[in-house]
Amino acid sequence: MTAPQRGVRSFARVEGRLSAAQVAAYAANQHLLVEPTLGNFSRIDPEFHLETLFDGARSLIVEVGAGNGAQAIAYATAHPELDVVAVEIYREGLADGLRAGAHLPNLRFLRADAAALLAAAPSGGIISEVWTYFPDPWRKARHFKRRIVNDAFAEAVARVLAPGGVWRLATDWPDYAEHMAEVLENSSLRVVPADRAERIVTKYEKKAIAEGREVHEFAAVKDA
Ligand SMILES: C[S@@+](CC[C@H](N)C(=O)[O-])C[C@H]1O[C@@H](n2cnc3c(N)ncnc32)[C@H](O)[C@@H]1O
Repeated sequence: MTAPQRGVRSFARVEGRLSAAQVAAYAANQHLLVEPTLGNFSRIDPEFHLETLFDGARSLIVEVGAGNGAQAIAYATAHPELDVVAVEIYREGLADGLRAGAHLPNLRFLRADAAALLAAAPSGGIISEVWTYFPDPWRKARHFKRRIVNDAFAEAVARVLAPGGVWRLATDWPDYAEHMAEVLENSSLRVVPADRAERIVTKYEKKAIAEGREVHEFAAVKDA
């Protein structure tokens, strides 16, 4: 396995075509959206600090590649005592998430390349969990380098997690599952038995189940 090449992106779609309702949601809910980048999704503003997104230093959950934010919204609703950050690039997903999560004070959407964001974040802060659920599978061998789960990303996750923090992952593609297992094994995190935790079934998981693919779950802990 190798470190990702500079400029290799794990995301395919950025803009998408917004409906009138999505445009309105985007405009009306800017208070929930943070865009901490400088002209390029992978260039994180050095003045941006994840830990100061919310008032107070509560535990932070970071979802990487949150899609339409359904998972983050469900969790933020069930856990008002925690703060949840949904990181996503795709504007269409963000628009839906902004609309559905507008009422939640403990949720923010962050439009940035999550790999760059975590690489730029400080070590061992307040992040108690990182989630990477159903990342884009990049199934062709020539695209494997675009998979967001790789050694460098694992190193960033391990670094930013608070002691005792957990990285949770899921995929419905067997070869990506093997790859995730290998990356976790090579990382400084301790692999623990994974369960669904409180994960809801998103539209991606629903599709996987409908198409008969098994869901593989992983969890790994940063020992204190
Ligand atoms: C297959 S979807 C899964 C969405 C969601 N996790 C779920 O389970 O429903 C993967 C998402 O990750 C986003 N993504 C991929 N690479 C990303 C990156 N580097 N930073 C932020 N989002 C990313 C894509 O835009 C896409 O919306």
